[in-house]
Amino acid sequence: MRTKIVAGNWKMNKNLDEAMELAVELQEHQSDFPSDVQVIIAPPAIYLANLEMIDEPCYQLSAQNCSHHDYGAFTGEISPAQLRHMGIKYCILGHSERRQYFHETDELIASKVDACLRNEISPIFCCGEMLEERKANTHFVTVLHQLEKALFHLDKKDMSKVIVAYEPVWAIGTGVTASSNEAQEMHAFIRETLRNHFGVEVAEQVKILYGGSVNAGNSAELFSNPDVDGGLVGGASLKARDFISIIKSAAMPSQIED
Ligand code: PGA
Repeated sequence: MRTKIVAGNWKMNKNLDEAMELAVELQEHQSDFPSDVQVIIAPPAIYLANLEMIDEPCYQLSAQNCSHHDYGAFTGEISPAQLRHMGIKYCILGHSERRQYFHETDELIASKVDACLRNEISPIFCCGEMLEERKANTHFVTVLHQLEKALFHLDKKDMSKVIVAYEPVWAIGTGVTASSNEAQEMHAFIRETLRNHFGVEVAEQVKILYGGSVNAGNSAELFSNPDVDGGLVGGASLKARDFISIIKSAAMPSQIED
């Protein structure tokens, strides 16, 4: 049985005081967190060190992006080796905002996946179709290509360290969520694709998160699907109350109190 993950992607939001306040509020409520849900937060990189200092944190930290180089003359970049040295274990890669606004290609994302894995960081690899692709019914092909180009060169051991996040671009920050059926259908497709390429063991192990306007009102239904192993949450992760509700909604049914 795969345990669930709820990851908060803070994007480029909050100043340092606000970031610390949110982290402290999560800490204060950690006794409410279901024990079987892993919580990850991805703050802006400049706050990673501050959030690392919190004693016995109720979350693990993720970067939102990194370079595909380990070190060198790359002004403004952050390397996965540096992240690893700070104890960071996760990095979001291939987010649609990186693909769209920073022109990240599948090839570049593949080399970032490699850079993370060689530094023992688990990529949270994002994939997902644009609205036109869904309308044209080519969404499965799009996602298949994204998986092929960024992940298919990995061996089974490395692939089992990757977390996949399915984030339909039309659902990100729009308030429009994929229906529970649409999410499950794509997640099952992704798992089947992984099974065909990497075998059943890897496919059963890899966690596939849903992202795109997840909120406290829709998370329980989305997460109840057999192939949805939690969520990558943007806007709703910026408010402690909402994020905590989403975390609670990811508990296995036996953990939910009446
Ligand atoms: P959203 O963002 O929850 O605000 O739609 C999700 C994401 O971009 O990861």
